[in-house]
Amino acid sequence: MCGIVGYVGSRPSQGILLSGLSRLEYRGYDSAGVAVIGDDGTLGMRKRAGKLAVLRDDLAAHPLADGTTGIGHTRWATHGGPTDANAHPHLADDDKLAVIHNGIIENFAELKDELLAEGYTFRSETDTEVAAVLLGREYRASGDLVTAFRTVVARLEGAFTLLAMHEDAPGLVVGARRNSPLVIGLGEGENFLGSDVAAFVEHTRNALAIGQDEIVAIRPGSVEVTNFDGEDVEVEPFEVVWDAAAAEKGGWSSFMAKEVSEEPDAVANTIRGRVRDGAVVIPELEGLDELFLGIDRIVVIACGTAAYAGQVGKYALEQWTRIPVDVELAHEFRYRDPVLTPRTLVVSISQSGETMDTLMAVKYARERGAKTVSICNTQGATIPRESDAIVYTHAGPEVAVASTKAFVAQITALYLLALHVARLRGSLAAEVAAEQVHELEAVPAKIAQVLEAEQAHVEQFARWMADTHSVLFLGRHVGYPIALEGALKLKEISYIHAEGFAAGELKHGPIALIEPGQPVFVIVPSPRESAELHKKVVSNIQEIRARGARVIVVAEEGDAAVLPFADEVLRIPLAAPFFEPLLAVVPLHIFAMGLATAKGLDVDQPRNLAKSVTVE
Ligand code: F6R
Repeated sequence: MCGIVGYVGSRPSQGILLSGLSRLEYRGYDSAGVAVIGDDGTLGMRKRAGKLAVLRDDLAAHPLADGTTGIGHTRWATHGGPTDANAHPHLADDDKLAVIHNGIIENFAELKDELLAEGYTFRSETDTEVAAVLLGREYRASGDLVTAFRTVVARLEGAFTLLAMHEDAPGLVVGARRNSPLVIGLGEGENFLGSDVAAFVEHTRNALAIGQDEIVAIRPGSVEVTNFDGEDVEVEPFEVVWDAAAAEKGGWSSFMAKEVSEEPDAVANTIRGRVRDGAVVIPELEGLDELFLGIDRIVVIACGTAAYAGQVGKYALEQWTRIPVDVELAHEFRYRDPVLTPRTLVVSISQSGETMDTLMAVKYARERGAKTVSICNTQGATIPRESDAIVYTHAGPEVAVASTKAFVAQITALYLLALHVARLRGSLAAEVAAEQVHELEAVPAKIAQVLEAEQAHVEQFARWMADTHSVLFLGRHVGYPIALEGALKLKEISYIHAEGFAAGELKHGPIALIEPGQPVFVIVPSPRESAELHKKVVSNIQEIRARGARVIVVAEEGDAAVLPFADEVLRIPLAAPFFEPLLAVVPLHIFAMGLATAKGLDVDQPRNLAKSVTVE
């Protein structure tokens, strides 16, 4: 839940660290700090509770001697509240050694007792300081930072990315990772470390992904990667597919606004290169035909918005492949002894590729012999590396904490996977598959139409509703997970109580919540393609309207049946049923953003949340 950056080279490091941290702030933003080995040879450190701007202002007011070796950290508190003392870096060895950390060191209490018994003292409540003090002790014993670091990481349990540097060894930053991300950026006469490539993409797009339980030592002219036993290991180079501008706000008021506007591109870029002669062929899955022919069950695992994408995808995946599909929250999945066989395909969905619950579920499934495919948006992330195959979503960097463009890209990737598997298994007639491909390819332009036609309208009534205390969302079939997504987005960025329900469930309880003035969004299925369901949802609308609800419907163009009962109508272009969710979700994303903005909230960095949940 924290962002980490490291630099060695010939340029002053502070600016590089601060700009890296600003791109990683989405990972945590309750405190931040930097440590630099100054040109005078001494280690200087500054850390402050609050957003990165607080640290930036402090450094501007009271500059720290600059130098060409440094590390920086932006925190989302786990051990110890967000205070100056608990912020990273943590110092040891007479303040000559600095350590930053992402993750949780599970055996920190036992290590702390050992160090306390030896007379060491602590200045914070964090598990990180324990690693720092331990590293200081080992450095004293060996006199070599890399050796000491190797000894320390071998003793740590839990999840961690650790970076360290010592003023006796300028020009060297060491790092290690276990169940937590770390990537290397390769420059000319300079090298970088980061929690993800955003930390250094403005300086280099050449990166190396390091594996589980590996240690890296970067110097201006070299990068050495070993395992925890000190043996050299192969590292995988890759080129970052987007540039620094993609991770900038541009002229937008927020990253979320920019990312919602990129929803058409997220879908189009995810489809690109995966359709050949009207059929879906995913190049990354070539050579895996046997795997897909051999499965008899699919389990989709994910958390939050990614899990809702899974729920939307389930309908098409099952219908097109004729393989039974279950969708499970990753954190529930592995604690209930699920039935997994070599014929089970576990499809994980994760924007970050680092969500700990999802990662652990993937590992669990693999250990029990299931096959694993990862749908992921982040190159070099851990979950794809732990999976048998990867289908990347090409949504580009998603910086706002609330996921938007990744959601539509995840549904797109699931549809592509479904059509790829259906083609291999012959479970869908070629003409029907071609029609679906055609529908999918039309989605980006239709999302753009929704943005064009509805953005101002939705923002306006979101402003009118700024003092609302509760909003309900109803949907059916593929519209049900869209109702859940609409509710999640609203609660997470506007702090308003919101619930999504399956419309058919209304009479089984939730209708009791309806009182005069209660706002209810209803996702209405197409009357052309789903006449039966459409009729049922219109009846639901009548039922809530009769009890005084304020009804906002999301319905396709020309659907007049909803008009007599709707206070607001948000229109989406005509689409086949499986593709409606990709359109219907757009006004819900705009609504959540509009309402949070009207309340004066920071839509990119909602309270208590971090973009990447790297602890269980
Ligand atoms: C909601 C949101 C979260 C994430 C969830 C999974 O807007 O962003 O619910 O979808 O934490 O994250 P990833 O996709 O990174 O695994």
